[in-house]
Amino acid sequence: MDWGMKNRYSRIIKPDDGRCVMLAVDHGYFLGPTEKLEVPQRTIKPLLPFADSLMLTRGVLRTSVNPSTNVPIVLRVSGATSIVGEDLSKETITTSIEDAIKLNASCLALSIFVGSKYEHQTLANLASLVDHGEKYGIPVLAVTAVGKEMVRDSRYLGLACRIAGELGAHLVKTYYCENFEKVVEGCPVPVIIAGGKKLEKDIDVLELTFNAITEGAAGVDMGRNIWQSEYPVAMIKAVRSIVHENFSVKEAYDFFVKEKKNEHKNTTIAR
Ligand code: 5RP
Repeated sequence: MDWGMKNRYSRIIKPDDGRCVMLAVDHGYFLGPTEKLEVPQRTIKPLLPFADSLMLTRGVLRTSVNPSTNVPIVLRVSGATSIVGEDLSKETITTSIEDAIKLNASCLALSIFVGSKYEHQTLANLASLVDHGEKYGIPVLAVTAVGKEMVRDSRYLGLACRIAGELGAHLVKTYYCENFEKVVEGCPVPVIIAGGKKLEKDIDVLELTFNAITEGAAGVDMGRNIWQSEYPVAMIKAVRSIVHENFSVKEAYDFFVKEKKNEHKNTTIAR
């Protein structure tokens, strides 16, 4: 890795512990105004102080984040499909490398759809993005998107993560699954997890985070389970406590309960 690449990478994966808390708010790029992310600025602002990095599209970055922020940007640069369209896997690269540089992106993110109709196109997108990233010293995060027909098991996710690593991704995001260690072991670069759909109980989010970290994840790139929580600030703080301070599930949950009270008080005062 050259200096610029190393420098940007270390803004995403903290060199002190090799971990990261990335806040994902890119969902609108194919889902539209997702619940609790209808007005991105409103969702992002209170959470930003607790995020190591922010993953989003250029449209939301330009309109909803103050350019004076110090939080590193993970720019989603794939898309051009929608939840109501023909096929979600038909993604293309939507942002030029020049624009990503202008936006001071610390990392570029795109989805790959292994096993889907447009698998080849998305893998070729990844290879080409890595070439651009290498040229300008910007790391690439590959997101292993899972089509409806795929099973989220270690065999499938392990395959997708390994292919992403082989094609040169510097970091891979996937889903937690049984035998997650195998997914991590088979991937030549660090693996982080998405949270997925909102889980029923708050403690489930902390358990998911704890299990993933214990089984080798380098961190989280989490969205809905943070900002769809009734107490998003308390939740991101609790997730951080597991990722960066090695809290147990119980310690993190006790911390969440305490923080929840503060958040409730602050919200009530603000009203
Ligand atoms: C969508 C994404 C999301 O950023 C990712 O799924 C993380 O968000 P969540 O924790 O809500 O699943 O890449 O393709």
